[in-house]
Amino acid sequence: MTSQETGTAHRRPLGNTGLQVAEVGYGAWGISGKQWIGADDIESTRALERYIELGGNFIDTALAYGEGHSETLVGEVVRRNPGTLVATKIPPKNRIWPARAGSDVQDVFPAEYVIAMTETSLKHLGMQGVDVQQFHVWNDDWLGNGDWQDAVTQLKRDGKIRHFGISINDHQPNNAIRAVEAGVAETVQVIYNVFDQTPQQRLLDACHAHGVGVIVRVALDEGSLSGTITPETAFEKDDFRNVYFGGNRKTELQPHLRAIESDLGISTAQLPETALRFVLSHPAVSTVIVGMRSVRNVERNMALADGRGLDAAAVSKLHGHAWDRNWYDPA
Ligand SMILES: NC(=O)c1ccc[n+]([C@@H]2O[C@H](COP(=O)([O-])OP(=O)(O)OC[C@H]3O[C@@H](n4cnc5c(N)ncnc54)[C@H](OP(=O)(O)O)[C@@H]3O)[C@@H](O)[C@H]2O)c1
Repeated sequence: MTSQETGTAHRRPLGNTGLQVAEVGYGAWGISGKQWIGADDIESTRALERYIELGGNFIDTALAYGEGHSETLVGEVVRRNPGTLVATKIPPKNRIWPARAGSDVQDVFPAEYVIAMTETSLKHLGMQGVDVQQFHVWNDDWLGNGDWQDAVTQLKRDGKIRHFGISINDHQPNNAIRAVEAGVAETVQVIYNVFDQTPQQRLLDACHAHGVGVIVRVALDEGSLSGTITPETAFEKDDFRNVYFGGNRKTELQPHLRAIESDLGISTAQLPETALRFVLSHPAVSTVIVGMRSVRNVERNMALADGRGLDAAAVSKLHGHAWDRNWYDPA
């Protein structure tokens, strides 16, 4: 019997939290009904249920995802499936993503606000406590400033959060190293994929050394590394991918994908598996949270939660395919 049939996804420790998380996690931004257009609540709920049925136990959401819609859908499913772990995030009070260099943490995460937003998330989720609460943006120069750490202590004491983590600004993996070294973050969430390999420079080693859990996001580069986005792909109005893949970017992408395929001798259909296994090959990674709105994608990705990474030769080849760009900025 395969691991998929028995519903036993391979688990890894989430740093020193004591939690064991499925190495394939569920990213719940896409099911929020905003920014990613076209999600269907019934299919999203089925996808979440199937994820858990196949041994998944780690779901990442955020208050900002549809202003509670993602948390509400996640909560309904998790309440029916006790033992499933939930990570959520507090949006910046000034609503500026990513955090601006030089900003005052009291304008972004004052203690009262941190507590109030956590309580709002718990209402959406219909839960007494959340397993991991994360800041949705971060600046390392906030360390030692403001009163947010008092809020974290109080939330833990009151049983409203079990662990505290930081979701690092897009493409700024070094902007959390001090928080990791100081021991204030029990987990970090970071963009790490075949194109953005910068976490390999310092962050992943620092997390490994300090027992900090690593939650990898955007391992498929918002879908580009799934191989399904072509120059003809059209997104619905208001879908954020009109920005991410705006201008000439869908065309620029193609030679990068073809180069990966030819270097590794794989087909386009093998790209998602290769991209996810690449990330899981790094020993510091605890889980890769993949956005998957359909049962089909859940089944495809959970089949990879078998404890096997890529062979060293393939990983080494992929090191040559890093591509430095920030597509969250408009073209
Ligand atoms: N600042 C932050 O903290 C932040 C920012 C971004 C993301 N996140 C978190 O990270 C999670 C993952 O990132 P993401 O969802 O933005 O992007 P992603 O995981 O890089 O890519 C998601 C895309 O890949 C597609 N996909 C998934 N598996 C596939 C497969 N096997 N074959 C073909 N296509 C596949 C999905 O399709 P379908 O959707 O159609 O299934 C979706 O279009 C988010 O859901 C969220 O939880 C956090």
